[in-house]
Amino acid sequence: MQKKRLGNTELYLSNIGLGTWALGGGGYAYGWGSQDDKESVSTIWQALDSGINWIDTAPVYGLGHAEKIVGKALKGHKEVLIASKCGLIWNEKRKISGCLKRVSIRREIEASLRRLKRDTIDLYQIHWPDPDEDIEEAWSFMMDLIKEGKIRYAGVSNFDLNQLKRLQSIYAIGSLQPPYSMLMRDLEKEVLDYCADNHIGLIVYSPLESGLLTGKFTKDKIANLPNDDWRKKKNSHFQEPELSINLKLLENLRPLIKKNGRTMAQMAIAWTLRRSEVTAAIVGARHPAQIKETVVAGEKVLSPEEIDYIETLLKERAKTIKKEII
Ligand SMILES: NC(=O)c1ccc[n+]([C@@H]2O[C@H](COP(=O)([O-])OP(=O)(O)OC[C@H]3O[C@@H](n4cnc5c(N)ncnc54)[C@H](OP(=O)(O)O)[C@@H]3O)[C@@H](O)[C@H]2O)c1
Repeated sequence: MQKKRLGNTELYLSNIGLGTWALGGGGYAYGWGSQDDKESVSTIWQALDSGINWIDTAPVYGLGHAEKIVGKALKGHKEVLIASKCGLIWNEKRKISGCLKRVSIRREIEASLRRLKRDTIDLYQIHWPDPDEDIEEAWSFMMDLIKEGKIRYAGVSNFDLNQLKRLQSIYAIGSLQPPYSMLMRDLEKEVLDYCADNHIGLIVYSPLESGLLTGKFTKDKIANLPNDDWRKKKNSHFQEPELSINLKLLENLRPLIKKNGRTMAQMAIAWTLRRSEVTAAIVGARHPAQIKETVVAGEKVLSPEEIDYIETLLKERAKTIKKEII
């Protein structure tokens, strides 16, 4: 599998990384309904067998559960790189909040290392810039963690341009983890260029828009998602009035996949990888067959004509959204 250097770091990542948010299961505000742990471990092993060399996780995924599953699956696989995060904590009522104080991140890193059964985390990322006024404190603490050997490299996630600039002036940022998919293109406005100019690695998340861009969802299927699957009520792409517009887009994309023998999911991921600034896409999966299908997305390169055709459809979608929703 093709590997790329992550920004200025010495990490070489396969162009697809496995995302483990859904492996945390349900039972909290951003859960994915119930998930079988054995199936999760098999999914991680399938990812490794397919050539994926890194896993993205976070303490908040399943409130510690996803990291435990990663630790279990990767026992004996020390060569596999782990990216985890800090900055989202939860209380005894399972309510999640942002905290970027040193003392809190100290607690978080020790707990993550225990769950992951590792002495060091390869890439440690500030999950959200929340609260904004504490991002510098968190960043300088992450530099301490590098010196201590608890983490190898530091990155950020969900940061805007101004926040990136603030941290870059203190210490070079290793990577940014932003959302990027056919439905979420904010990154293209200015952040892509800034990252390329400053050698910041880009690992983009939710390339399938949390499953919607696989093309498998209908309105009925979404209505039948379990109540503790966050997509049912909390993701605007899965809700009206946007949902009908998104389903129409998928319908219009269908002729393209028929013509080229790739699946909708592979095409959606390949679309994010068309940008040379992107180091890798973080793709979620809850069953081995899902990652087996998507892991080859990097080989399903889109032609310039296909990219243009998709662009026309995306512009039409954006226009409809502007007219009917905004
Ligand atoms: N930094 C952040 O704030 C942040 C935010 C979001 C995500 N992330 C990271 O990015 C990763 C990926 O994002 P994501 O989990 O939102 O979504 P994604 O990769 O866009 O979609 C993954 C979901 O799509 C479905 N799916 C995957 N492959 C499929 C296939 N071949 N056929 C049919 N369905 C398939 C699965 O859910 P179902 O089977 O249930 O439909 C799977 O959980 C996360 O796991 C996490 O590591 C980070």
